[in-house]
Amino acid sequence: MSRILITSALPYINGIKHLGNLVGSQLPSDAYARYMRARGHEVMYICATDEHGTPAELAAAKAGKPVAEFCADMWQVQKDIADGFRLSFDHFGRSSSDRNHKLTQHLAVKLWEAGLIEEITESQVYSNADGRFLPDRYIEGTCPNCGFENARGDQCENCTKQLDPTDLINPRSAVSGSTDLEVRDTKHLYLRQSKMRDQLDAWIDTKKDWPILTTSIAKKWLHDGDGLQDRGITRDLNWGVPVQFDGAPWSGMDGKVFYVWFDAPIEYIAATAEWADAHGKSDADWERWWRTDAGADDVHYVQFMGKDNVPFHTLSFPATIMGSGEDWKLVDFIKSYNWLNYEGGKFSTSQGRGVFMDQALEIMPSDYWRWWLLSNAPESNDSDFTWESFQAGVNKDLADVLGNFVSRVTKFCRSKWGEEVPAGGEYGAAEDAVIAEIGKRLTAYQTHMESIEIRKATAELRAIWVAGNEYLQAAAPWSVYKEDPEAAAAIVRFALNLIPLYAVLSEPFIPDAAAAMLTAMNAEGTKWPDDLPNAMAALAPGHAFTTPDVLFTKIADETREALEARFAGE
Ligand code: 2FM
Ligand code: ZN
Repeated sequence: MSRILITSALPYINGIKHLGNLVGSQLPSDAYARYMRARGHEVMYICATDEHGTPAELAAAKAGKPVAEFCADMWQVQKDIADGFRLSFDHFGRSSSDRNHKLTQHLAVKLWEAGLIEEITESQVYSNADGRFLPDRYIEGTCPNCGFENARGDQCENCTKQLDPTDLINPRSAVSGSTDLEVRDTKHLYLRQSKMRDQLDAWIDTKKDWPILTTSIAKKWLHDGDGLQDRGITRDLNWGVPVQFDGAPWSGMDGKVFYVWFDAPIEYIAATAEWADAHGKSDADWERWWRTDAGADDVHYVQFMGKDNVPFHTLSFPATIMGSGEDWKLVDFIKSYNWLNYEGGKFSTSQGRGVFMDQALEIMPSDYWRWWLLSNAPESNDSDFTWESFQAGVNKDLADVLGNFVSRVTKFCRSKWGEEVPAGGEYGAAEDAVIAEIGKRLTAYQTHMESIEIRKATAELRAIWVAGNEYLQAAAPWSVYKEDPEAAAAIVRFALNLIPLYAVLSEPFIPDAAAAMLTAMNAEGTKWPDDLPNAMAALAPGHAFTTPDVLFTKIADETREALEARFAGE
């Protein structure tokens, strides 16, 4: 048994995320966490809302609420949606927590002591119309790197380049649209990442097993152009972790807060401390996950994120915790995702194009979304959500293969023997062949889950369902029964035994259906199959079950067409 620490990129507090965001970190990390728990490992699975910075302030202003109140409300909204999607976080924290304030300030002091933070007087864009500085997302303009016209002051969404507000061409205020801007001097703290370039480079070089998508982005930032830049880690904003606090080694920083990308990844650690607080545990209980001087060397730490987050997780955050000189656990594996598109284009919040997480749950059960999204996760390339593909995934994989299998065998059994596993007959060559096929597929499924190739894992799982369905079709107990009821009983017994097996193997992807299957089969405690022939005899003759309700309802063409129209955007 190992200890596995899993973090999912923290969703910004500013609004409800779309399906592309969901499949880019929370959903695959959840499937991985569930899988690892099922394999008997000790898992700590952490997520939180990313509450600071300009996105939060802008959204609160738009909603007409004080930022603190807006964030508290939106945290609950996001938490409820996460529950709706059955995201099994051990803790869903908040980056505005006291724990994160303290830890962020603590790490900044350590970096200062290590000579990695310096005070810089820099030129910042000031908006005369708005009467304020315009950091990060408060300013928009054309990206100097790729020419994208709606680049934000902190990063270009199009080419992922990290930017400074003064880099933008044709800048305008995101608050008022005003172009009456001027550049003023203001003092900020800079993290001297450039000093850590060689150390980071050497560290990335040890990560031979990381996805190319992850290492190529890291290497690009380390070596392209001027290489790793020193970055300002403070901002002229009200909402965030205060830079000036008791014991701070600097002065004159009143009214400034740390940059959201400085404190957000620290929240991975702080949220684990929040978990300890919420469960009446001690500091030692969270430190064993994060402090190598408290045993965290034994932990395997995996991060999940969309590709735009990679520079911050391969460079900035490691620079923070390595640079602190303290014994913090570094990430062991970074799983990054490409984009999910929507019907050939981009999801768009402003144009109402695509499906958002709250809408998705109103339309269909979460298992349907989980299955489609995970079996089409943008792992090697971008992938495309289409209603046609979604309909096919639900109708074919879930309803026709898995759902139909469960329904057919339970109903047939009930009609001939009642709701209990029938006695009589023996397993023979056909059953051995199914066990062999499932065994082969299961090995592949496990290998893919261990290496976090989620999409490939779903293909094996689907093949495992197909094996049972085809077996039942070919063995045809309804025909055999007429001549040889004993032989039919063995077939049905075998098929009934596949249901708890399928439930356990499917649980990382479709937890609700899995739970329904186990409840129906009166087999709640079923464990991951270490020995397939044994697992296939787990439900002994006489074991009582109840015929489950329909597990998956097919999506009709008219429904699909209506949904296509509803979410097409303006
Ligand atoms: O891109 C985003 O949505 C960020 N809120 C992710 C933060 S991940 C972590 F570092 F906090
Ligand atoms: Zn760009």
